[in-house]
Amino acid sequence: MNVHVTGGSGLVGGYAIQELLDHGIDVVNVDLHPSKKHPKVPFRKADLTDAGATRRAIRDAEAVVHLAAIPNPNNDPGERVMAVNMVLTHNVLEAVRESKIRRIVYGCSESASGFGIHRVEHVPLYVPIDEAHPSWPHETYSFTKYFGEVMCREYARADKIEVVSLRYGWVWFREHEDALRKTVRHRGDQGFRRHLGAYVFAEDVGQAIRLSLSYDFAGAAMPFEAFYVLAAEPIYSGPTLEAIRNAFGDATPPVKPADYFEKNPRASAFSIEKARRLLGYEPQFTCEDL
Ligand SMILES: NC(=O)c1ccc[n+]([C@@H]2O[C@H](COP(=O)([O-])OP(=O)(O)OC[C@H]3O[C@@H](n4cnc5c(N)ncnc54)[C@H](O)[C@@H]3O)[C@@H](O)[C@H]2O)c1
Repeated sequence: MNVHVTGGSGLVGGYAIQELLDHGIDVVNVDLHPSKKHPKVPFRKADLTDAGATRRAIRDAEAVVHLAAIPNPNNDPGERVMAVNMVLTHNVLEAVRESKIRRIVYGCSESASGFGIHRVEHVPLYVPIDEAHPSWPHETYSFTKYFGEVMCREYARADKIEVVSLRYGWVWFREHEDALRKTVRHRGDQGFRRHLGAYVFAEDVGQAIRLSLSYDFAGAAMPFEAFYVLAAEPIYSGPTLEAIRNAFGDATPPVKPADYFEKNPRASAFSIEKARRLLGYEPQFTCEDL
């Protein structure tokens, strides 16, 4: 399979490309600048906010892993994050449609849920949050991830493009191990209410991307699936339900199914059961491994 990875020179892209190469998949990196990590991987320079450049860069792909984006709201004004992320995802989807590319794996984010980097600390309707829980984003970057996924879904409905949207959480990179060790050392359960302890190691995101490329839609009329992709456990030590109760007090949401945390007291507050069941995803790393 010939897979074009947009944003392949970025942090997640570097791990995604490694995972695909390790499994014998041919990769082309499409980015603004070449990859330092994978200098030998074929590279196409393209600014994906330019529709023509996008079309030329991915026209001969069999599948696209779309990771290019401004990956957080911290360094750019909101209007730039909105403009770049929405336009480039639109251009990639249009190019995929025009070139009749079968599949796209979209790098969404757990922040599309409305938890994480948000102003308002919502209370979930139930825990663990799964793909059936409504999404409540109200922050610019998260809007772009959310609306990007909506665009993907509607191209799947209208044009039968196969789309897997991966809502992965805060990605932990080996490049940042020292800082992450400090995060783990100083963890309390403050902040739990905001981001629910969600994170995932970059290698596990790579695994989910690879599995998404071969997911069998089995002739579905609308070939679209979204998955939460997180580590198996939250950042905080101790039982997850205890952290949830500490965070939400009297407003603690119901647990669904009721025995979820009895079966696995350390399970993540975002469910990864759908990814396990349908993709065969099984995260290999938790913060205890650092
Ligand atoms: N890092 C995280 O914690 C995290 C969490 C959830 C989702 N994501 C998503 O994963 C993806 C990758 O994130 P990352 O952390 O690797 O970010 P990154 O900044 O390291 O990589 C993004 C890449 O996209 C490229 N890019 C940006 N604008 C482009 C354009 N106009 N044309 C072509 N290429 C362009 C950049 O050059 C860069 O190489 C993003 O879509 C991000 O939203 C990241």
